Amino acid sequence: MCGIIGYGGFREAGPVLLQGLLLLEYRGYDSFGIAVDGGDRLHAIKRVGRISDLPNDKPLFPSLASDGEKNWHVGIGHTRWATHGPPSDKNAHPHYDCTGKIAIVHNGIIENYHPLKEQLIRDGHSFSSDTDSEVIAHLIEEAYFEKKEEGPIPKRRLAEAVEIVTGKIFGSYAILVTAVGVDEIVAVRSSGPLVLGIGDSEFIFASDMLPIIEYTNRVVYPDDGDIVCVTNSGYHIHRKGDGKRALDSRSEAERKEEYPITVLSLTLQQVKKGGYPHYMLKEIYEEPEVLYQAVHSLTPDTIPQILLDEDYITVVACGTSYHAGMIFAHLLEAMSEKIVKLEIGSEFKYAHSPVRGVLLTISQSGETADTVAAVRRGGCFNRETVAITNVLGSSITREADHTLLMHAGPEISVAATKSFIAQLGVLLQMVNIMSGEICGEELSHVHKAIVPILSLSYDAAVDICAHSEHMFYVGRGVFYPVVMEGALKLKEISYIHAEAYAAGELKHGPFALLSPETPVVAVCLPGPSYAVMTGNLKEIKARGAPLIVLGDPHAPELIDIADCIIPIKHEGMMTDIITTSVALQLLAYYVAVKLGRDIDKPRNLAKSVTVE
Ligand code: AGP
Ligand code: GLU
Repeated sequence: MCGIIGYGGFREAGPVLLQGLLLLEYRGYDSFGIAVDGGDRLHAIKRVGRISDLPNDKPLFPSLASDGEKNWHVGIGHTRWATHGPPSDKNAHPHYDCTGKIAIVHNGIIENYHPLKEQLIRDGHSFSSDTDSEVIAHLIEEAYFEKKEEGPIPKRRLAEAVEIVTGKIFGSYAILVTAVGVDEIVAVRSSGPLVLGIGDSEFIFASDMLPIIEYTNRVVYPDDGDIVCVTNSGYHIHRKGDGKRALDSRSEAERKEEYPITVLSLTLQQVKKGGYPHYMLKEIYEEPEVLYQAVHSLTPDTIPQILLDEDYITVVACGTSYHAGMIFAHLLEAMSEKIVKLEIGSEFKYAHSPVRGVLLTISQSGETADTVAAVRRGGCFNRETVAITNVLGSSITREADHTLLMHAGPEISVAATKSFIAQLGVLLQMVNIMSGEICGEELSHVHKAIVPILSLSYDAAVDICAHSEHMFYVGRGVFYPVVMEGALKLKEISYIHAEAYAAGELKHGPFALLSPETPVVAVCLPGPSYAVMTGNLKEIKARGAPLIVLGDPHAPELIDIADCIIPIKHEGMMTDIITTSVALQLLAYYVAVKLGRDIDKPRNLAKSVTVE
């Protein structure tokens, strides 16, 4: 939730920070802010709303822009997804201490902020925001400054003050700190994402690599509790548990050994919209390639042995990734003797039952707090853990015993689309390998089946959906999770209320809601339950609900009852899962376009949910 950024280098910091925040905005976008060290004071902007609303025809900080003498510039920035205090100018980060000389940005939640804030108020601090984050600035003030009559004087290095504060706060965080005149950024994380980009005489901290790649493709991933400092003489990492031994006293070689520099293969092109009106559409159009990569990334040699050996698999994930897990569970149990238990990330941590078998977690971002916590819980039960993720170096990759990458490339639209297809690519291939089934042939060609789905016309279906407030999605068997995902997509980007049901379940209550105002979207493809499914659809139609069917446009039994058919050719179970999933993503997309929604940044959401 939220994106943080810090820049230290020879460029003017303000524009670098705002440019970077634009790329991080998908992580949270209710307000934003930056603070730049002007030598004698911090220059700041803190605003509710979008970064693009800022006028870009004048210099951000005119007095700094004319400071051509300076060759080292420092600043920090934030784009927020509010947890404590509503979106407002005053709650936007950065936050300051009482002297106004220390600025911090924070991603996450300080769980014990309340008693800390009460104590700080008793000690004479006054607060300017409703956020939990502001306590960090005041705690650093206490640790950093000695209060003298002539004003506050630093009593120790900023990095040491930050380290002291990390002993007082708990929760999840990634924090960047700067102070007037120190020409330094200090960073620390605890279960919050943070990457440091190492350029040529410049450094950039960010929540992910997107804003970094314009400047460098060399990054390090600090560990929890490490104190990382960037100054004009380089970067220094003070490793947690090193006591007083400062890492800057280590040789370059020692440091590199401990903190290997990762060279990213990501290009700037991959994070641009590339002529598409929205990232979501671009990402859907990338699905054929993404699926191919995902399927072919996994072979009997690269799959962790534990998945083959264990009979019992616990799968944990959230949201779209959970739906991918449901599809996996359904197919694996149908095609092998293995038993799969599926858990929602947010419930799993507080479950009383022990963790059984191998723990498989699925997370596009690799940062979802509940899913990362699940990996830790698996470790507590001495279970081997496997993570499927899209982000190399993400928190989950550091916690899990084995990582399988889904190779989808950066996904910027908040709605997960290509990552879902990539997850299915990995998971369906896993089913093939784990069940010893020889239907790998179907999967190796399935990416081609996506192409015709991209150019279908969704207009008739969109017309039906766009005029409704409530909808149902129905499917049977493995298509039940497929429609759950379709309904989630529609909800999050069009704001139409959509509920997914196993088709046979609708008559156990929800039928009371059916009317000409409640369209039903159904996946109805040949298979063992085809006859009973068409029966279910007839019952729905008899209650007057408009029916949109994903199925064979020539099937008389569908023509008879459907108000609109989205033509899907039945090719095989795995192909049908993919093609119907893509069609439902596009349906949601075109409905949201018709309604004029903010497709890539739907209201109230953020791309990765890094708080529990
Ligand atoms: C779906 O479009 C959402 N982006 C959301 O449900 C997402 O899948 C969920 O938050 C889990 O994210 P993760 O895969 O990064 O863990
Ligand atoms: N908890 C902080 C706030 O509400 C940070 C939220 C975030 O990560 O965006 O301001």
